[in-house]
Amino acid sequence: MKVLVIGPGGREHAIVRSLLADPNVSEVHAAPGNAGIGKLVPTHAIDANDPDAVAALAAKLTVDLVVVGPEAPLAAGVSDAVRAAGIPVFGPSKAAAQLEASKAFAKQVMAEAGVPTAMARVASNAEEAADALDTFGAPYVVKDDGLAAGKGVVVTNNRDEALAHAQTCFDVGGSVVIEEFLDGPEVSVFVLCDGRNTVALSPAQDFKRIYDNDEGPNTGGMGAYTPLEWAPEGLVQEVIDRVAQPTVNEMAHRGTPFVGVLFVGLALTKRGTRVIEFNVRFGDPETQAVLARLKTPLGSLLLAAAKGELDKAEELRWSKDTAVAVVVASENYPDTPRTGDRIRGLKKVDELEGVHVIHAGTKLDEEGKVVSAGGRVLAVVALGTDLVEARERAYDGVELVQLEGGQFRTDIGRKAARGEIKVAATNGSVTGTLPVTKAKA
Ligand code: AMP
Ligand code: GLY
Repeated sequence: MKVLVIGPGGREHAIVRSLLADPNVSEVHAAPGNAGIGKLVPTHAIDANDPDAVAALAAKLTVDLVVVGPEAPLAAGVSDAVRAAGIPVFGPSKAAAQLEASKAFAKQVMAEAGVPTAMARVASNAEEAADALDTFGAPYVVKDDGLAAGKGVVVTNNRDEALAHAQTCFDVGGSVVIEEFLDGPEVSVFVLCDGRNTVALSPAQDFKRIYDNDEGPNTGGMGAYTPLEWAPEGLVQEVIDRVAQPTVNEMAHRGTPFVGVLFVGLALTKRGTRVIEFNVRFGDPETQAVLARLKTPLGSLLLAAAKGELDKAEELRWSKDTAVAVVVASENYPDTPRTGDRIRGLKKVDELEGVHVIHAGTKLDEEGKVVSAGGRVLAVVALGTDLVEARERAYDGVELVQLEGGQFRTDIGRKAARGEIKVAATNGSVTGTLPVTKAKA
């Protein structure tokens, strides 16, 4: 089968790498790709957010499957255009992608489907925002209602800062969702969906803040590891039963079936498992770690989802190893990242046992050298027999990467490796549903 992968980042590089390991996949193309993807497969310089351009490329290449990586093309309707051209596509329609593109929409669907999540209110002016902040109290959680690449959320004890973030969203004509604070370890679970059926991948943990010990501003994600030895038994089943399947059922019921990955971001709180957010695509950098362990051929699996045949797909098989991905970001990320710097040492990283480099914001300069081209530049991904070994290998790799001003976290997977993550005993039970309430007019 021939596959076209849409997107420019680390997630797409990881997907391409896994597709190339699938014996049923004969040819892979990517658009627009990055320097790492370009070393593996032909890339095409089109606008990934342009539905007609993507559909035309897919038709020209006569691919059997299009895999859409990031949220922006999904929200722009790329899947709809490809589907309308009669080509199977792994990625939700524009309507279904609202589960990520609008946090308020996601909250409505969760309420309708009985999915446990944080209590929340939508606010569209300063008065409503202040009222909602005082209802829930500190720590304050204020989320830009639209797409913000993981950077639209402010969690703070400072009420003025919370109000200021809301105001910056109002100033550009937006609204915010203000929530109760969810306390407890966070987990990312990717659930493959074919419109009806759901199959969960192995849970991972992401590190959202820029600095060690979860300090500094939120980013798209600075590292990840999987599996989670400390996760309660039955967590994945609970996510399917209480979150993913009800959501998929609700979306089908609304006439906007969900095909693609439902990314369930969870907090394991004292009061039970709660959804923090939905995304409608694979997580980045979790995917780099999760796919490193997946033994089931990826192309066949994604094609089955695209065709509504996940119930016929083979059962997932996983490596016994643990995978760790450590992101190397450019100077000044997540603010205005510095770009255009040479990246050296990558060949040496790839030579390490159990280690490989996944490119994110990279490109080739005029001389054909790899340079930084984005905030998150690359991830070093390592497999090891346990988390301790995988971390050691990943950080050995990171030490070899030379990038002026490059920054990375030194504590990816550290707490888990030390056995320091505690999940409050909830017997895996979910207590109640907390629906969204509209702010007072
Ligand atoms: P989101 O874009 O909704 O995933 O939020 C980004 C990050 O903000 C999450 O990964 C959490 O670390 C944090 N966050 C979001 N919502 C909450 C909440 N209700 N309580 C605590 N932390 C949250
Ligand atoms: N790593 C989190 C995300 O992809 O949104």
